[in-house]
Amino acid sequence: MAKRTVDVVAGARPNFIKIAALFQASRKFPRLRLRFIHTGQHYAPELSDIFLKQLGLPSPAHHLRVGSASHGVQTAEIIRRYEEWSVSHRPDICLVVGDVNSTIGCALASVKQNIPVAHVEAGLRSFDRSMPEEINRILTDSISRWHFVTEPSGVINLKKEGHPPASIRLVGNVMIDTLFRMRPAAQKLRAYQKYGLSAGRYAYLTLHRPSNVDKISTLSTILDQLVWLSTKVPVVFPVHPRTMKNLETPALRHLLKGAPQLRLIKPLGYMESLSLMMSAAMVITDSGGMQEETSFLNVPCLTLRENTERPITLTRGTNTLIKNNWTLFRRRVKEILAGQGRAEPRKKIPLWDGRAAQRILKVLDQSA
Ligand code: UD1
Repeated sequence: MAKRTVDVVAGARPNFIKIAALFQASRKFPRLRLRFIHTGQHYAPELSDIFLKQLGLPSPAHHLRVGSASHGVQTAEIIRRYEEWSVSHRPDICLVVGDVNSTIGCALASVKQNIPVAHVEAGLRSFDRSMPEEINRILTDSISRWHFVTEPSGVINLKKEGHPPASIRLVGNVMIDTLFRMRPAAQKLRAYQKYGLSAGRYAYLTLHRPSNVDKISTLSTILDQLVWLSTKVPVVFPVHPRTMKNLETPALRHLLKGAPQLRLIKPLGYMESLSLMMSAAMVITDSGGMQEETSFLNVPCLTLRENTERPITLTRGTNTLIKNNWTLFRRRVKEILAGQGRAEPRKKIPLWDGRAAQRILKVLDQSA
């Protein structure tokens, strides 16, 4: 049987983590030839190169170098540049992951050429169409031939939207596959020591959603609470470039000056971040992936969002949605610091077992 070429697309930080699991698993599928297509949506070394290196990803077969721009321009450039590549180097399948602009851009360029699309992390829905990611998720699912799903809510959502049941496969979570592989090394790293901290005695914070960081007034309200948090426990805060832009404004700089225990640092690589996450007393975040990673690691997570597209992290994980309820936030922080944070080991989330990528590749390998 002839080899089948699969273009595996990633361009933003979380998606390098996810596709790494597919490249690892691909060794067992000699009939599949995976090509890494880097869109260049993230290009700073600390958001891209360090991830590629730490995760052992191959060099990109092609780099679209799109860079930053408005949504329209960035997505259009991804479509244009990926179309150019795939016309001359046609793959049999285009595999996209997650919900970023690179995901919908390459999916759209592919279906227009009748290249079937496989969507990994399909079916997740926040039901909040003000999130750019929600639009990307709905659109990508609507044009994908295969929907690879991480949790049961995704199956329900896709069925409700009328997708053929045969296209929907509950396979588990490729981000957790990578965590499985990297956890022992991250454990040894003890990254908290570099910041003079002790295991279990600090909070780990990340913040980058447009709805939280793009408006100074909203960011200022959140920062007030984080300054309070830092009076209770040291906080390590690697700052995403989107967030940094606004933190540099005088009003917010002033707020931060009064909070020496709130430590702003540069964005971290995967290993350092995982190491800090697994030994933290709690994680405060608006990231999607970290809600899942903390659930898997049994670290309490307080999510600074109104909703989540990953409801299993609320029902079977360690996640609490804060929804701007700062009374709830302070109560949960106090509970966690009083030792009521780490949940009793709950039942494992089905299929989050380190083998999701294998299940995905098996389906693609066997599809005619
Ligand atoms: C993107 C994704 C988001 C994901 C996040 C992970 C979309 C719509 N958003 O958001 O879903 O959670 O990645 O990090 O796809 N910048 C740099 N260096 C870089 C990349 C970006 O400095 O390498 C700056 C640019 O000024 C840019 C801003 O960060 O304007 C935002 O980058 P962008 O890729 O547009 O969105 P993210 O906020 O990173």
